[in-house]
Amino acid sequence: MEYICSECGKREAVTTRKAHCDCGGLWKLDFQAPCFEESRIDQSEWSLFRYRAFMALDDDAAWREISLGEGMTPIVRLDQNVLLKMDYFMPTLSFKDRGAAVLIAHCKAIGVDRVVQDSSGNAGNAVAAYCAKAGISCEIFVPEGTSPKKIDMIRAHGAVCTVVPGNRDHCADVCREKVEKQGVYYANHVYNPFFYEGTKTYIYEVFEQLHRIPENLVIPVGNGTLFLGVMHGLEELLASGAIDHMPQIIALQTETCDPLLRAAEQGLAEPVDVSPKPSLAEGIAIGKPMRGKEILAYARRYGVRFIHAPEDRILAARAALAAKGIYCEHTTAANYAAYLAYVEQYGPTPDCLITMCGAGLKSDH
Ligand SMILES: Cc1ncc(COP(=O)(O)O)c(C=O)c1O
Ligand SMILES: [Zn+2]
Repeated sequence: MEYICSECGKREAVTTRKAHCDCGGLWKLDFQAPCFEESRIDQSEWSLFRYRAFMALDDDAAWREISLGEGMTPIVRLDQNVLLKMDYFMPTLSFKDRGAAVLIAHCKAIGVDRVVQDSSGNAGNAVAAYCAKAGISCEIFVPEGTSPKKIDMIRAHGAVCTVVPGNRDHCADVCREKVEKQGVYYANHVYNPFFYEGTKTYIYEVFEQLHRIPENLVIPVGNGTLFLGVMHGLEELLASGAIDHMPQIIALQTETCDPLLRAAEQGLAEPVDVSPKPSLAEGIAIGKPMRGKEILAYARRYGVRFIHAPEDRILAARAALAAKGIYCEHTTAANYAAYLAYVEQYGPTPDCLITMCGAGLKSDH
């Protein structure tokens, strides 16, 4: 299997240790998923690897060694209009396990023994856990202010957790410097295309569960790892004829850090430069989304609507969900706050699926 550079088109075997092409472009996978057929789902496998017939995997061995039973999360009804996909029912309590399971299976398959990663917490939790299972040594860089519970969890898995002063974007710069200087493998959820092979199973799962895709999907977008996986999954279902149109994607960003929302509003192809300010939704406060161009291209192609999660309504949204038995983290409460804001702007929005992608026990405030 090969990577193709998204900027210059250069090819490289996926066994490469390079985090990106020499020209600076990010890799995409040269992989075309076969036509979706329900009969090709492995009904005997109770993890997201039941969809492996449609996923790019190096071999059929590594994932068996590292799987922690990720995926297969339920869909529950919140009210007449809203369904919730309970993606915090995961081994490390967030949707990032979808991507990390596939990414670390890839690392295992190609013989990587040491990785670094930067994260606002959840992706770091996920990568640290799968590295522990895989016997791969791991260092996670997190920005100061990251929830102490996420840091404790990373360390509990035996990973080094380095807390970097400054914001999330600076933390990524510090980690990337280590990658460039020391040549350590960058097991990064944004750069590495195998991660999206995991996050796309969100869509395969929804389709298997409901036998259809709801008309509206609410997706948080920081670096867009769920967003891009969802787009890949939907395009694959569309190409297979399993669905006959794309749903409305409702993509949310915070009011204090919204480079993609602003770019979409202004019809720009690149994210706008912003000076991120703190948000309760720490997980999506990404000032420089590295795949911003790709996200905006999808947004234009499929009429994605961006919406702000109103900062002053995140706590109320979290309380409203908790009052119905759903205890999610603040970043995830932002998804519901954004949905409520969307309904105010666009009117009643039935048949809406919102991801509950991070667990409440992980965030303080
Ligand atoms: C709970 C939660 N929701 C959403 C996101 C946003 O994901 P992404 O930055 O890939 O768009 C994150 C990222 O860490 C997260 O932890
Ligand atoms: Zn290139």
